[in-house]
Amino acid sequence: MTVKASFRMLASAGAALFCALGAAEAAGGKTLEYKHNHWHFKGPFGTYDKEAMQRGFQVYRTVCASCHSVDQLAFRNLGEKGGPFHLDECPAGVPESTDCSKPSENPVVKAIAAEYEVTDGPDDTGDMFKRPGLPSDKIPGPYANEQQARAANGGAFPPNLALIMKARHHGPDYVYSLLTGYETPPDTVALGPTQHYNPYFAGDMSQLLKPEYLNEEGHPVEGVEIPPGGVLAMKAPLSDGIVDYADESVPETVDQYAKDVVEFLTWASEPKMEARKSLGVVSMGYLLVLTLILFFSYRTIWSRVDH
Ligand code: HEC
Repeated sequence: MTVKASFRMLASAGAALFCALGAAEAAGGKTLEYKHNHWHFKGPFGTYDKEAMQRGFQVYRTVCASCHSVDQLAFRNLGEKGGPFHLDECPAGVPESTDCSKPSENPVVKAIAAEYEVTDGPDDTGDMFKRPGLPSDKIPGPYANEQQARAANGGAFPPNLALIMKARHHGPDYVYSLLTGYETPPDTVALGPTQHYNPYFAGDMSQLLKPEYLNEEGHPVEGVEIPPGGVLAMKAPLSDGIVDYADESVPETVDQYAKDVVEFLTWASEPKMEARKSLGVVSMGYLLVLTLILFFSYRTIWSRVDH
């Protein structure tokens, strides 16, 4: 590649970055600024917090899974290296021939899978049948298809949560803010029975102002502020105490549940992040060593040249 071509690529990458930042700003224009949490997985050395992921899976399973799927995620993924239930060694009592680091043999993963019922088949007579889940099965979602999901949710579609962190700008901060940010709407607006106000959800609250706050042209009267955010079909899914954590030292609050489920869903959207980051660190080290070698060989070679 020529130097000119590399520069052109760099410039277009820079331009793309600027556009992406601009879009993020535009999308967040009418919502409150997202709350920032100190996420373990951020930064070049970031890793997932395994216990938080395990609790997050529990929150997903107990609360979110009645409406949202985690498409494409299989039980065995939970036991892969970096996953919430990965084991390096077998717990006591497991036969020695078992290799617990393998997701298919991991007893925790097997037990979780077996608690679900999955559809298999067809059998010899052509019928589908139900059986307990196996590590190789996909985690079943709550609905058979999108139509069924919409019918059960008043026309709104609960999106696949396995990719939600990638599908939204600032995914973790956004989902955390959304889950913890439900508020009673200001008196100036009137909501329908399936509308739930959230200042972090992108929307246009000016459409919901009560008629007494609008002038003849349908614009808000002077002095009336349009509330930030919007309305969504999901009512606040979390409340304090709704999930029972085994670890007594962890608070059972909306804030903690939201943090934990975000940790789990971020892993689900990028299970290979830790491997990618450690490869990055190794390559940086390699380049640093190479730079030093080049620098010293350059000095040695040129020191012999007479000026
Ligand atoms: C009773 C059903 C139900 C439950 C339980 C539920 N949701 Fe939802 N969720 C929905 C529906 C319906 C939507 C679509 C809302 C809309 O578009 O108006 C949604 C949307 C979302 C969105 C997308 C918002 C966006 O930007 O489009 C996220 C993120 C989300 N839910 C996360 C969760 C999490 C995490 C949980 C568990 C803690 C959960 N939900 C529990 C029904 C549910």
